[in-house]
Amino acid sequence: MAAERFRIVGGARLHGEVRVSGAKNSALKLMAAALLAEGKTTIRNVPDIADVAIMADLLTRLGCTVVRTDDCVSIDVPKVPAHRADYDLVRKMRASINVLGPLVARVGMAEVALPGGDAIGSRGLDFHFKGLVTLGATAHNEHGYVIATAPDGLVGADIVLDFPSVGATENLLTAAVLARGTTTIDNAAREPDVVDLGQFLIGMGAKIEGLGTTKLTIHGVTKLNPTDHTTIPDRIVTGTWAFAAVMTGGDITIHGGRAEDLELPLEKLASAGAIVTSTPDGIRVRMDGRPQSIDVATLPYPGFPTDLQPMVISLNSIAQGDAIVTENVFEGRFMFVNELVRLGAQITVDGHHAAISGIPQLSGAPVAATDIRAGAGLVLAGLVSEGITLVEDSFHIDRGYPRFAEELAALGAEVTRETVE
Ligand code: UD1
Repeated sequence: MAAERFRIVGGARLHGEVRVSGAKNSALKLMAAALLAEGKTTIRNVPDIADVAIMADLLTRLGCTVVRTDDCVSIDVPKVPAHRADYDLVRKMRASINVLGPLVARVGMAEVALPGGDAIGSRGLDFHFKGLVTLGATAHNEHGYVIATAPDGLVGADIVLDFPSVGATENLLTAAVLARGTTTIDNAAREPDVVDLGQFLIGMGAKIEGLGTTKLTIHGVTKLNPTDHTTIPDRIVTGTWAFAAVMTGGDITIHGGRAEDLELPLEKLASAGAIVTSTPDGIRVRMDGRPQSIDVATLPYPGFPTDLQPMVISLNSIAQGDAIVTENVFEGRFMFVNELVRLGAQITVDGHHAAISGIPQLSGAPVAATDIRAGAGLVLAGLVSEGITLVEDSFHIDRGYPRFAEELAALGAEVTRETVE
């Protein structure tokens, strides 16, 4: 079967303008949450990535009519959606698990295959299941599926999460909006994607307090209505462009990028030597010369996002000085470090710490993307490597970055797609 890879000739300084589209991790959840109301919901600013097509397929199998035009997705939800999400789709994309909460809340029953998704750690789902049980559902695993039922509806309750899991907060929020009575979710995730989902639900008629804080209070309603909502811009794609500018000594204006969603990463880039300024509709990131190394520890929002960790390691590989990067969210997320080492990076991993000694230039080689963000991190490394870097399995990158190779080329990089038999 034909696969694609990116071919990168390193050395270019990125220069110019890009526009950031809607956030993948928001748009996919909004699509799943559309199941909560019968009728036609419209979601705008949806990115043109493979995962959106997978979510559209999943919703279609659940009985919805999904129409995609440009960056707009309309989802017509039937009176009673089907309740089974099959493994062949769920395994391609972890965000499929987000149909669980809406289906239990609306249909009283869900059978959702346990997801695969990115190879970045064990990624448990126990908080999702425990939370639903606290809301009165039953949940058990059978033949690779989680089967959750609540034939008489969910009942509001107080939930405390052991960790501010993004996915669990979203699933429980989208379940609680139709529960009888009031639900609280303590130690809730505060990511901008969760806030966007909350605003979408409020647009449907949900009653939610505390969005963006660690405690959500949800007063259940009996029925929600379809809505029309615009997805927030992708902060991880924005951050990736910012790192690309700094690593290549470039100058990129990122239209649509929201600095307020990226406070810590932009502060870190400033300490690496970048000049970050606001523009009327986004941010501009400039860099002269070689960046200084930066120590980073990933944490739930507003901490440093784990999804930008590969970019930090790539930057530190060519920075002046030594750095420690600590991964606190996903234990498997250093797997791609072995690929960076193939480019000559000097990195030692010890548990969830990576120690990096910056060198002036990496040296191009074939490497493989293991997940979306690792793939993007390797592409950035390829941009600052001498000679040719081939990033194999680039379909991972296409799952999160619309037209990444083409956008890089427009900024002056020598990047092309190649088909590999
Ligand atoms: C989402 C994002 C992902 C991002 C992550 C953290 C999507 C599709 N993916 O993933 O890009 O890196 O947030 O910002 O939106 N955990 C448990 N039990 C649970 C749930 C989570 O142990 O029931 C653990 C996970 O294994 C992980 C940590 O909690 O170690 C954080 O996971 P979580 O915040 O849930 O990430 P996702 O929602 O999967």
